[in-house]
Amino acid sequence: MAYDIPLNSLENQWMPFTDNKDFKNNPRLITSAKEMYMTSHRGTKILDGSSGLFCSPAGHCHPKIIEAVNKQIQKNTYTSPFGSGHPESFKLAEKITKITPDEMNHVFFVNSGSEAIDTAIKIVMSYFSSKNENRYRFVSRERAYHGVNIGGLSLSGMANNRKSFPLVIPNVVHLRHTWTGEELNKKGQPSKGVELANDLERFANNYGGESIAACFVEPVAGSTGTLVPPVGYLKRLREICNKYGILLVFDEVITGFGRMGTNFAADKFDVKPDIMTMAKALTNGSMPMGAVCVHDKIYNLITENAIPGSIEFFHGYTYSGHPCSCAAGIASLNIYEEEDLFERANNLSDYFLEALFTLSDHDLVKDVRGIGLMGGVELHLRNKAGEIGSEFQKKLFWNGLHVKFTSDTGIIAPMFIFEKQHIDELIEKFRKTLDQFGK
Ligand SMILES: Cc1ncc(COP(=O)(O)O)c(C=O)c1O
Repeated sequence: MAYDIPLNSLENQWMPFTDNKDFKNNPRLITSAKEMYMTSHRGTKILDGSSGLFCSPAGHCHPKIIEAVNKQIQKNTYTSPFGSGHPESFKLAEKITKITPDEMNHVFFVNSGSEAIDTAIKIVMSYFSSKNENRYRFVSRERAYHGVNIGGLSLSGMANNRKSFPLVIPNVVHLRHTWTGEELNKKGQPSKGVELANDLERFANNYGGESIAACFVEPVAGSTGTLVPPVGYLKRLREICNKYGILLVFDEVITGFGRMGTNFAADKFDVKPDIMTMAKALTNGSMPMGAVCVHDKIYNLITENAIPGSIEFFHGYTYSGHPCSCAAGIASLNIYEEEDLFERANNLSDYFLEALFTLSDHDLVKDVRGIGLMGGVELHLRNKAGEIGSEFQKKLFWNGLHVKFTSDTGIIAPMFIFEKQHIDELIEKFRKTLDQFGK
């Protein structure tokens, strides 16, 4: 049903990452969603071209998830996770470790990607403290997004996210990002740029490898517009980490759970990290949840070296492993498995990328990038960064397509349940909107 919300009822919520004044003057509300479509408060049918925020590959309002959460909420809505537990969180941890790389068998639950990153930072600190190694430096990368908590913000390589928050954790150094601009409109991995990974070795030489605790990277940088790693880049990072005893952390918050057509990006690029952060598709976006999965050597060292009879890791959240989120997580992983959705994503990838790259011929488009079921369409700058992106996103919405924009790049992430016709619809609506902006 189409209905209008009185404007004054929007004032009380301070919206995240939103131009509040503009939104409240021109609201774009979703009043219902089913599978790959959403309905706006004006009744517009909108194709979800970014799986929400890259989190709902199995589609909105999946009946099996609704049923699982509904059952759980009637059985047990809350158990303290500190020193007690409930069966669902152990079951979910076991299910996750069935699809993570070998020897990554321990899962710490949190409530978001940002919490996963801050937790991973603390796990790294705890690991080296248990080893009696004084490593206090972290390596991240320009154009990285690792959430918004202070740890993730410190790792962030996005200037706007940092500029009004001057107090971040010290001793973070940033690798150069991997978008060189040399290979525009390149499908898949750039062939050039592996040497950018050697920045890590330069840091090791400059600061002393023994001072560096961990290197955090998104295998494919998502929020800055799908920056695909050059061929050999992640392997090179792994080699340098091995050489200097640095832990390699993959932030798989977007790339995890099939987005690359494999379980995790670690599998796609055949590189094993020591720690993986995850969130989003873990519950198909239906309930807030994140997780940190660690290599056995990390869990074993921290738990074995602790004072007997005491807590080993002084960290956790009231809602770590919340029963309803766990029920949603178990149901989501079951759906991915039963419906073979990662394989489906893999099979759809070629068609998606082929269609996506047709947009590169448009005058407004500066670059198209993509791998798996993840793509970036970067528009030419108009006046100032973000101006055209923000206007474009709004127009797209009323043209019946949701795409998340960061600055002037649209980040496209089809649901794994899309048929080819949905890819066609996505590209048609994107092109139509480009045409409305001018050739
Ligand atoms: C790679 C990455 N890490 C961390 C986060 C933060 O996740 P959340 O918004 O759930 O805190 C995001 C969110 O988009 C992300 O893309």
